[in-house]
Amino acid sequence: MDLVILLGNSTFIVLTLLDAHLHTPTHFFLGNLSFLDIWYTSSFIPSVLIHFLSEKKTVSFTICVVQMSVSYTMGPTECVLLAVMAYDRYVAICNPLRYPIIMGKALCIQMAVLFWGLGFLNSLAETVPAIRLPFCGKNVINHFVCEILAFVKLACTDISLNEIIIMLSNVIFLFSPLLLISISYIFILSTILRVNSAEGRKQAFSTCSAHPTVVIVFYGTILFMYMKPKSKDAAFDKLIALFYGIVTSMLNPVIYSLRNTEDMEL
Ligand SMILES: *[C@@H]1O[C@H](CO)[C@@H](O)[C@H](O)[C@H]1NC(C)=O
Repeated sequence: MDLVILLGNSTFIVLTLLDAHLHTPTHFFLGNLSFLDIWYTSSFIPSVLIHFLSEKKTVSFTICVVQMSVSYTMGPTECVLLAVMAYDRYVAICNPLRYPIIMGKALCIQMAVLFWGLGFLNSLAETVPAIRLPFCGKNVINHFVCEILAFVKLACTDISLNEIIIMLSNVIFLFSPLLLISISYIFILSTILRVNSAEGRKQAFSTCSAHPTVVIVFYGTILFMYMKPKSKDAAFDKLIALFYGIVTSMLNPVIYSLRNTEDMEL
């Protein structure tokens, strides 16, 4: 699966950079999504694989911190990027004639700075307080990766401030993009339903069917993880959480490649 992620996403990036037909805002954002998925999965899959094979399942403090910083940058960036892509679809459907003017190079770059910047800030806000905690002895991480909550639990002090930061970050970065995405789709749906010809409606639907698929896979799995009752086997829950991160990263380029022809008709 790791190979599929690396090959699929890097092929996608190379294609969008090489093919001039794919120099559209939509494909810039997709390229960023692929780039992000590569970093996100590469931050933890290699160490998980090594630990499957080795007797001694240890990780150095530095590697742990790097792993956390990378994955807590990529997670929020992906959420905000999905919201930006929903806005892109909204302009394409609800304001098609002005699309090239609105989604100009400048706005695309500003948005890229926004989602990467927010991800980076989130990572600082979560990891800096975590690594400044005093650690004195307990050093068994109760997880397959350096998950931040499992990490701060090793500190020998009160960690309620860290827990609040982590919870706030989850709420802000999961729910506000989801809200923006939902609002965009309410506008998109109401525009599509007002289209009179069946042909036009079909065209409009196909212009934006890949993005909702990705959103549903991404948010569906996250919300499922949050809502479902805890199973007796906590290790199994953690494994499933990792597995979903991997599946989402693997599916993104597949979903978008299948839709390429329609996207290009824009
Ligand atoms: C990411 O997005 C920016 C701004 O739209 C774009 O210039 C850049 O080429 C994209 N990166 C990739 C790897 O697609």
